[in-house]
Amino acid sequence: MVTLRLEALIVCFFCIVSKRLIGLLLAAAVWRPKSKVRLYNRGMSKPAVENDVEELREQIRHHEYRYYVLDDPEISDQEFDGLMNRLKSLEAKHPQLVTPDSPTQRVGGKAAEGFAKVPHSRPMLSLDNAYNEEELRAWDQRVRDLANRERIEYVCEYKLDGMSLALWYEGGALLRGITRGDGTIGEDVTPNVRTMRSVPLTIGAATLKKANVPESFEARGEVVMPIAAFQAWNEQREQEGLQRAANPRNAAAGSIRMVDAREVAKRRLDYYAYFVLRAGDWIFPTHSESLDALEAAGFKVNPHRILTDDLEKALRFIRDAEAKRDHLPYEIDGVVLKVNEVKLQDRLGFTGKAPRWAIAYKFVARAAITQLEDITVQVGRTGKLTPLAMLTPVLIGGTTVKRATLHNADEIARLGVRIGDYVQVERGGDVIPKIVKVVEDAKHPRGNREFAFPGHCPECGGLAVRADGEVDHRCVNAACPAKLRESLLHFVSRGVMNIDGMGESLVQQVIDSGKVRGIADIYDITRDDLLRLDRIGEKTAQNVLAQIARSKQLPLERVVLALGIHFVGERTAQLLARHFGSMELIENSTDEQLQEVEEVGPRVSEAIREFFSEEKNHELVGRLRSAGLRMTQEVIRKGPQPLAGKTLVITGTLPNLTRDQAKKKIEAAGGKVSGSVSKKTDYLVAGEEAGSKLDKANALRVAVLDEAGLLGLLQ
Ligand code: IVH
Repeated sequence: MVTLRLEALIVCFFCIVSKRLIGLLLAAAVWRPKSKVRLYNRGMSKPAVENDVEELREQIRHHEYRYYVLDDPEISDQEFDGLMNRLKSLEAKHPQLVTPDSPTQRVGGKAAEGFAKVPHSRPMLSLDNAYNEEELRAWDQRVRDLANRERIEYVCEYKLDGMSLALWYEGGALLRGITRGDGTIGEDVTPNVRTMRSVPLTIGAATLKKANVPESFEARGEVVMPIAAFQAWNEQREQEGLQRAANPRNAAAGSIRMVDAREVAKRRLDYYAYFVLRAGDWIFPTHSESLDALEAAGFKVNPHRILTDDLEKALRFIRDAEAKRDHLPYEIDGVVLKVNEVKLQDRLGFTGKAPRWAIAYKFVARAAITQLEDITVQVGRTGKLTPLAMLTPVLIGGTTVKRATLHNADEIARLGVRIGDYVQVERGGDVIPKIVKVVEDAKHPRGNREFAFPGHCPECGGLAVRADGEVDHRCVNAACPAKLRESLLHFVSRGVMNIDGMGESLVQQVIDSGKVRGIADIYDITRDDLLRLDRIGEKTAQNVLAQIARSKQLPLERVVLALGIHFVGERTAQLLARHFGSMELIENSTDEQLQEVEEVGPRVSEAIREFFSEEKNHELVGRLRSAGLRMTQEVIRKGPQPLAGKTLVITGTLPNLTRDQAKKKIEAAGGKVSGSVSKKTDYLVAGEEAGSKLDKANALRVAVLDEAGLLGLLQ
């Protein structure tokens, strides 16, 4: 470039000096390649980036399909993340290339307040049930009589225990996701639906053509929360002091109607399609073709299905499904039989709210009636007292149940349960069975012992107090041995400090021996201490010591989690450690500083500060530090800091973000949010009904942004 410019100047000079026109022309000729090079570059690079972006998206869509729909990934999670990160960084550099169907755009919007009501293209019906073989045979007979045919082809599918959902596609792109609602009118939950990775955001014209599905169509199916996701979510709820959800169906139904799509994204919901329609009408002449077409179009369709005209085969399929039920990654509560031929479906029609051409064979609920023999109270590591129902052992779905949780005093009052009562116990996807209700009839008389919640801790006799506004009773004795035992069990557990050799019995023994009086004492245990215990030989002792030593290498985020701070579960511990990078900073942070961390609100920050306000907890950290545990790690703050050093003021109502969300976003990007406009304000973010702050910003010539402008800045 420099030489080109120099040449141009020389030529110009020559031209001026010689006044020869040809000189000017020459200069132009020399200049042009330069500008041409620039234009050429720009002209070429844009499509090149566009191609890269589109190619990456295609690859990501393909791998999402392999992973989330087929459950058969071709690449590792890391490789997948690598592709996603490349796409994210290209889109960040070229925001004009971001499209709503990009795989990066699954989590974005927020469902409109109250969810818009949308009429369904055709009513979303429910199903009649059969509870045993006899009822199923009777239904089959009725269908054959009405059809006047000896044999009828049925499709048998699993009945997934979730919530039905309609997806509208236009031009191959997901337009809307609508809940069943009352069957006629549903709710628009599109932003939440977009977060479900097994729901394609866009389907290529070629794929649709091959599947014989028009570009504008509707899929109907079931949203489920897989059992693993449900259990993990319940664990997290428990750690956060919230009540566990009863079953994956409730969890799925609750999740799909959440206001914040980012929350929904964490729930790992899944979607199985079972109907395809165009303008409210079936597309294919048979149901089995619909399922095949959905599969070919890239939807997840449950592979457990058969087409048969033999009811005995259908019954075998049902028995087989019931046997497999406990080993599936999702909950099913029965099998649905559907008449395959659509013309016949039309002839059979409906009764009330259910079609005559389909039926749900329902499995017996994994529930049983048994007697409540007693209620005992367990003490957790935070001193929380949990009432446990001791039941007459009963077999439920192949598992013997002896205990069920009663959660807290309010739950006991809600159930109105007395000791000696007969109760209905259910086993959902959760590991912990639940008492659903008290049963009372001639065979099941009421019990007569009221349960009074103890005023004292059953383990140490310390005072048990229920604080204002809390549902739980807690033992207030700081030296309660049960708290110590539970804290130790938490500390050594898998996913925390991972000291595998220290099970319940060893933990109890080291406490009883007087060697361990607090968590940090674990790191002072010697070989001799262990050898003195029951059933601990040389090999076990070596193994335990090796695991204790190894735990010292775990990152800070595990140590933060291991402390057992109220509300600080795995994710929060990780975010805290990555944000601050040192235990010392976490210990000494103010509420405000703590709340700068993603997902940390006032409740969590207060719990952290309360924890560190106790001298003994500082001591604990000090001892863990001396023992050699890691107290620092690399700071990883989410994203770049485009607003570093900038001061912003927010006013009025923003269309999507709450003020708090906007504030968090600004702070996460390094900006500061102030309450009033002054000369020092860099930007005013103004929503609807912005008042005097907007006038002042205009008077002071402060830049004014709307929500989209703010989001643009954050990119
Ligand atoms: S067909 C008119 N197929 O069960 C047909 N439903 O109890 C209605 N469900 O509301 C739906 N798995 O939420 C159908 N393979 C399946 C199903 C299924 C689960 C749910 C669905 C429906 C409810 C009826």
